[in-house]
Amino acid sequence: MDIYALLKSMTLEEKLAQMSQYGTSVLDSGAADDVTGPARDLGLTAEHIAAAGSTLGSGTAEQVIAMQKAHLEKDPNKIPLLFMRDVIHGYRTIYPIPLGMGATWDEKIVYDCCRMAAKESAVSGITVNFSPMVDLVRDCRWGRNMESTGEDAWYNSRMGAVMVKGYQGDDLKGKYDIAACVKHFAAYGAAESGRDYNTTDMSDYTFYEHYLPAYRAAVDAGVEMVMTSFNALNGVPCAGNQWLVNDLLRGEWGFDGVVISDWNSFYEMINHGFIENSKQAAEKAVNGGTDIEMMSSTYIHHMKALIDEGKVRKEQIDRAVLRILRLKEKLGLFENPLRATSVEEEAKYCLCEEHRTLARRAAEQAAVLLKNEGVLPLSENIKSIAVIGPFAACGMNGWWSCQGDTKESVSVVDGLRAALPHAEITCTAGCTDGLHDSSNDTMLEKAIAAAREAEAVILCLGEQEGWSGEGNSRADVGLPAAQKELIRHVVAANPRTAVLLFNGRPLALGDVINDAPAFFTMWQPGTEGGSAAANLLLGRVNFNGHLTMSFPYHVGQAPIYYNRMNTGRPKPGDDSTMGYVSRYVDCPNAPLFPFGYGLSYTTFAYGKPILSANTLKKGSGEQVTLSVTVKNTGYVAGTTVVQLYIRDLVASLVRPVRELRGYERITLAPGEERTVTFTVEEDMLAFRTESGKIEAETGDFHLWAASDAASGEPVPLTLV
Ligand code: GLC
Repeated sequence: MDIYALLKSMTLEEKLAQMSQYGTSVLDSGAADDVTGPARDLGLTAEHIAAAGSTLGSGTAEQVIAMQKAHLEKDPNKIPLLFMRDVIHGYRTIYPIPLGMGATWDEKIVYDCCRMAAKESAVSGITVNFSPMVDLVRDCRWGRNMESTGEDAWYNSRMGAVMVKGYQGDDLKGKYDIAACVKHFAAYGAAESGRDYNTTDMSDYTFYEHYLPAYRAAVDAGVEMVMTSFNALNGVPCAGNQWLVNDLLRGEWGFDGVVISDWNSFYEMINHGFIENSKQAAEKAVNGGTDIEMMSSTYIHHMKALIDEGKVRKEQIDRAVLRILRLKEKLGLFENPLRATSVEEEAKYCLCEEHRTLARRAAEQAAVLLKNEGVLPLSENIKSIAVIGPFAACGMNGWWSCQGDTKESVSVVDGLRAALPHAEITCTAGCTDGLHDSSNDTMLEKAIAAAREAEAVILCLGEQEGWSGEGNSRADVGLPAAQKELIRHVVAANPRTAVLLFNGRPLALGDVINDAPAFFTMWQPGTEGGSAAANLLLGRVNFNGHLTMSFPYHVGQAPIYYNRMNTGRPKPGDDSTMGYVSRYVDCPNAPLFPFGYGLSYTTFAYGKPILSANTLKKGSGEQVTLSVTVKNTGYVAGTTVVQLYIRDLVASLVRPVRELRGYERITLAPGEERTVTFTVEEDMLAFRTESGKIEAETGDFHLWAASDAASGEPVPLTLV
């Protein structure tokens, strides 16, 4: 297809329609020519709909086949639609939410799950995936923590790049490759007070050091699309932020792919108080470099006037349309508008055994053991288990679970019954809202009786799916009072109780952690959550997840993150009572569970890290190695994540007390020990100095090779 000739043949109206994206309910009205409902609300004519460039929200191959066929009959230029969807952690086979996938510290399983999601998406007709979401998160109150891989920019950069490659495969050449869209550009996760859509405001230092790098990593990994975010960044809404898109993304980074807005965010610049009307929205957005307008129609209605008034140049429209046509060409849509869409293959691959197995493995690896005082694992010969609590009998897919259906997901009680067919697995409470259980005396009495009767108890608590995700921030991230009471009563009835948490964010567990002998989180584990839970509880697989977001004692510590600054008055130690230091009088500074933390059914001993040399010459290209010997000191095989941290002790800008710069997952048999060696070079010590240059400054550093961000002894290194 000669897209330049195609562009030349298009009218301005047709170009503007190509730059517009509407939900399938708008396009798939069924009433081919008359404009009803959502379309009417957007002020669209049948011609606008006929020439639309893309749609979002399609669900099945059958729907896509019908829509694409109908569209090509109507579109005057016969340009195929792009079908876009939020496939955040699986299409029909759902694996753990990204905050759980991040906890695997396993780029291979993250990649494999993205390949699986891409395949199920492609056969269902999806061509663009609104993922990866790489927003850095530091505030446990924010509902969209569940979509992120956590609080570290370096780690999120790696995971974001892996996801882009997992979706796009070998540059979209594969049958099941789909285009990825990195979001939300930029710094959406810094929503003030952890309240979704709230304003974000930060120094360049923080922006460049923490909030920006992962988007850059996705661009460098070849992501085809970038989505701008709802938030105002330092006073300018990202939807119309010319510096952010044209100067930084396109100018400095050289991104020439497609930029799409978030849902209706153009209009929302009016609410921000940045513009007065929708015509100004169109002007700000197109001059802010956004090619596709999602679910609003300002381009359609105002662009011609803006061009006539000289506020927008035709070349800008042509460049935007060319980027969209180029993506369609790259996806091969002109030759084959349906690509891999296939009702037969959709039925064959979605939820197939191979995919369910991968989803279960991912759920097992994402789970993090937080506390275990002699309760887990349960014996394979156990005769009775009481599964109690509001989430005992429901599938837990989490927000953004696409075509996943919790009815197709394995609950904890089902997983245990399948794993232990000869044991008595009782279920009490089962599936409720998680807010009122213990106030229901009958239920409470039943729970206590069930706990007394059983050899062990699994208490399934935490958050229901709707307490996290978009628009679902919480001011209090502790367990609801009813659940805390249930823990106390059930543990009193049977001390052999483990608390299984489902959560879409870090929870504040400071006031419950001493009320039960075992706690672990499965996040929102997806289709095979219950079978993964059973394997973990019985020790058929070991826990090897490690947190990528700090878990606070109390929500009042938010935002809390490991790579904090030391301050001028650091608190001398967790139990210090010294006054006039940076502290709370009613809560520790440190998190309850730090970044990188995770227990196992075995134990590991870390030796003292050894540096091959204690100096590194700046500009020499030299490397030193940091080695640490790790031993499995327990009785079962286990996997741990050895984490490399650095600290720049004195610099021209104050630096974090620790910064992750490497990691290695190792699996050791009982008694086995292994030496892990990291190569340390100058660029690992660099940061964005006041001049804007990324460089390492000479001076002293501390390095750790540790099991989490709060452990280990530092070794000194000097950059000379
Ligand atoms: C939403 C989300 C964004 C998503 C888009 C399309 O509002 O902010 O992440 O991709 O709309 O569903």
